[in-house]
Amino acid sequence: MDIDRFIKEKGYVDLETPRGDKLISEIRKMCKDKNAIILAHYYERDEVQDIADFTGDSLALSQQAAKTSADIIVFAGVHFMAETAKILSPEKKVLLPDMNASCSLADSCPAEDFEKFVQAHPDRTVISYVNTSAEVKALSDIICTSSNAVKIIQSLPEDEKIIFAPDKNLGNYIKSLTGRDMLIWNGSCHVHREFSLEKIIKLKNENPDTKVIAHPECEEPVRILADFIGSTSQLIEYTKIDSYEKYIVATEPGVIHQMKLSSPEKEYIPAPGHDSTCACSECEFMKMTNLAKIYNALKYEVPEIKLDMKKIEKAAVSIKRMMEISG
Ligand code: 13P
Ligand code: SF4
Repeated sequence: MDIDRFIKEKGYVDLETPRGDKLISEIRKMCKDKNAIILAHYYERDEVQDIADFTGDSLALSQQAAKTSADIIVFAGVHFMAETAKILSPEKKVLLPDMNASCSLADSCPAEDFEKFVQAHPDRTVISYVNTSAEVKALSDIICTSSNAVKIIQSLPEDEKIIFAPDKNLGNYIKSLTGRDMLIWNGSCHVHREFSLEKIIKLKNENPDTKVIAHPECEEPVRILADFIGSTSQLIEYTKIDSYEKYIVATEPGVIHQMKLSSPEKEYIPAPGHDSTCACSECEFMKMTNLAKIYNALKYEVPEIKLDMKKIEKAAVSIKRMMEISG
């Protein structure tokens, strides 16, 4: 059996696995036997979130990766998240069950182009969103996530000139909140770009007692319409404490799983995208991970995130600065 061939050709191991409850119990058993943990992002499939040891937003997942005593981290998320875990815990084996799980936002900022951009503005401090490659992180002074972006920006002196990359929507949102001098890279996420303002307004008119809640990666017209804007964890928290009973959720609909678990009596409507054949905007990269791929990743201990130590050391500086500011 040639495991390397699977990784090369498919990006994951495609061997038969047990099914149903047996699949779940075998995954849990391997986690125990191998001292492994499963970290899952809120956009993952429901069953993947349910089997994880820890479910969270980008910031919380990085914090978990930095402090875990496990020997193996199985990252149920996308590539930049697993890469960040490896940078924070280089001595650990970090597995990404499907190597094809990339991110359109991270891909919208190629390191070679970004390097030229940074070099053209040497007077600016470079703040990059965590949705970036290790190479872009190495070109950055501080990393942020959507949970702590305002705090990170406000930790800098008021007259400091900033480059913000790669998300123009999050960048413009933070610029409007902080009033800082920010030069913003023109990147965006294909999921959050796709929400249809017209369809959300129509939905809101049909459901008058509904609040619109949105991720800051959404385009400006959707952000203006939203009653609340926040990271995935902040959106989940908001629906827990808010008095409304119904929400139109303008982010990847995976978050609705946690909303339903904490407030099952409420109603959550995924915001519609422009494409009329699809009611919701799913991130296909987040949905690539499934239980069978997690099982095979644990069993064969591949696909593994591998980074050379020089790259890790360079990228770690900006992530650790975020951790110091954000806690
Ligand atoms: P959060 O940090 O809010 O979890 O967002 C991650 C992400 O990829 C949003 O598209
Ligand atoms: Fe990347 Fe967008 Fe998917 Fe988030 S939703 S992981 S930003 S492609």
